[in-house]
Amino acid sequence: MQRVENEIARLIKEIDYDEVTRLFAMLSGGKRLRAKLILKIAPNHEKAPLLAAIVELIHGASLLHDDVIDEADTRRGVTSVNATDGSKIAVMLGDILYSKAFTELLEFDKTIAKCIASSVTALSKGEMQDVKMAEEFNSDEKIYLNMLYLKTATLIEAAASAAAILAGKDADKYSIYGRNLGLSFQIIDDILDITADASTLGKPAMNDFLEGKCTLPYIYLYEALNEDDKKRLRNAHAKKIDESESLWIQNMMKDNKSIERSFKLAQTLSHEAMQAVKNDKELVSILETMLKRSY
Ligand code: IPE
Ligand code: IPE
Ligand code: MG
Ligand code: MG
Ligand code: MG
Repeated sequence: MQRVENEIARLIKEIDYDEVTRLFAMLSGGKRLRAKLILKIAPNHEKAPLLAAIVELIHGASLLHDDVIDEADTRRGVTSVNATDGSKIAVMLGDILYSKAFTELLEFDKTIAKCIASSVTALSKGEMQDVKMAEEFNSDEKIYLNMLYLKTATLIEAAASAAAILAGKDADKYSIYGRNLGLSFQIIDDILDITADASTLGKPAMNDFLEGKCTLPYIYLYEALNEDDKKRLRNAHAKKIDESESLWIQNMMKDNKSIERSFKLAQTLSHEAMQAVKNDKELVSILETMLKRSY
């Protein structure tokens, strides 16, 4: 991982703008999940640290833009760039990181470059769908999962697949791994928004629904409610609700096992990911750690 950090630092230095170096430092402290996957899939390839650095720049850019879109004021446990320096700076820093990453992809074969670059189109489509979908109450699981696939899973899928191509391994197998891990990962992120407290999250709890996001536990809850309670849940959507209403939602989720059902799907998807790479203990252990992070 030190080699990845060195590559990231080198790429940032090449941008040759002190302001970028200063702002980028605010983004340190991510889990580097995507970089770790790449190193584990292509451990012996000399270009694996560069590929991992590229993917982390892309991920960083997506977070910068995501926090502008979501008007979030914290990221990775500190104040977000949009909150300290404004949205204009955050958007432009994101553009610089994306374009630097794309330039560096020229160091790789076309199949690898295309795999990573096209996942950014998918990710951006997913972010746009996420915004559009938050305008209305959505109770369609399929539509929701497709958006999650685009928004979160495609970059992880592309990272795993590109690393496999680099290492001369079966790219399809690692795609399945990355895709299912990515979906499972985002479902758990959505569960934690409901089950974790604000200090663990580093942002207010139950924030997704307030922002209009009907995540999986809300979709499953809606399915289980009677007509009156369906109406009540719809009424709470995308609004600042009081303590008692949010307690009602949490209790209803308990009664109807909406969180359990969501977690079960995350488990099933993780299991599918494990099946794809069952001989690789380290890749399996990444999944196990992720599942433990949940509620
Ligand atoms: C956060 O991703 C955004 C989502 C896709 C949920 P990570 O949880 O991997 O973010 P960092 O890199 O560790 O901050
Ligand atoms: C972010 O999704 C996914 C990206 C691709 C950037 P969210 O908006 O749910 O992520 P967090 O919760 O802000 O990390
Ligand atoms: Mg966000
Ligand atoms: Mg978002
Ligand atoms: Mg989230």
